Amino acid sequence: MALTTEVGRRPPLSELEGVPLPAATVDNWGQIQGFEAKPDDLVICTYPKSGTTWIQEIVDMIEQNGDVEKCQRATIQHRHPFLEWARPPQPSGVEQAREMPSPRVLRTHLPTQLLPRSFWETRCKFLYVARNAKDCTVSYYHFQRMNQTLPDPGPWEEYLETFLSGKVGWGSWFEHVKGWWEVRHRYQILFLFYEDLKRDPKREIQKVVQFLGKRVDGPVLDRIVQETSFEKMKANPMTNRSLVPKSILDQSISPFMRKGTVGDWKNHFTVAQNERFEEIYRRKMEGTSICFCTEL
Ligand code: A3P
Repeated sequence: MALTTEVGRRPPLSELEGVPLPAATVDNWGQIQGFEAKPDDLVICTYPKSGTTWIQEIVDMIEQNGDVEKCQRATIQHRHPFLEWARPPQPSGVEQAREMPSPRVLRTHLPTQLLPRSFWETRCKFLYVARNAKDCTVSYYHFQRMNQTLPDPGPWEEYLETFLSGKVGWGSWFEHVKGWWEVRHRYQILFLFYEDLKRDPKREIQKVVQFLGKRVDGPVLDRIVQETSFEKMKANPMTNRSLVPKSILDQSISPFMRKGTVGDWKNHFTVAQNERFEEIYRRKMEGTSICFCTEL
């Protein structure tokens, strides 16, 4: 069944190996699973709402050596094909990627167990960005309110339970972050944290530069830091999704570039919700060495 975007009609998610995904992605799974990765691909991987757009813009600014004009050539969604994107009759993410000259930059929200096998076999580079679970929940809640192609999140307290049970698009935050964290030394994976990017963008961007095997001069690096700030990206039509029709992203409900801060969960969680979240977090993350610089 194709994903529809008729006003007032939110399509339900389908499931693949227990992971909820947009129905059109599941319908197109044969094409996605058979995707042919190349050794010089760079894959940007994130759980939804973890700063995907931010790291995409950073990568593109590095690739373009800080040339702002070149980064204006297309919207961020069109610069880096979204692997599991499917909205017939538009070309799918896989088809867009096939058309793209190498070296390609691709993006995906897929958890490790669903990533097409060819990516592991070619041993290309992966850039993973993790964001703390509570801010991710809040960001995803507001995103689902405004994104007409995802299920209506309902009231906050209900959504919190949906998130904790992993019944949101791309599945459980816990499984996603753990999955990528556990393979980070087995493949060429640069594992970054949203909170570190906020705290010291220059240092984190330098890590990306090094990982990509590039060199950028001091002034270029400074420009990249400046141009990828939340304020700049919020005002930039090529990154702020303002060119996406309202029937898909209704920014009058909540802007895509919403707050861009660390700790907004404190404005949403009650004390009881926080205690419950932390208890579940501890249980689910037990045994992993991952450590976020904020509490949880
Ligand atoms: P909030 O909803 O908390 O504001 P994604 O791109 O993965 O969908 O993530 C979106 C989240 O990243 C949103 O979080 C958005 O505001 C934030 N974001 C986007 N660009 C950013 C930037 N340059 N600096 C900080 N946060 C940014």
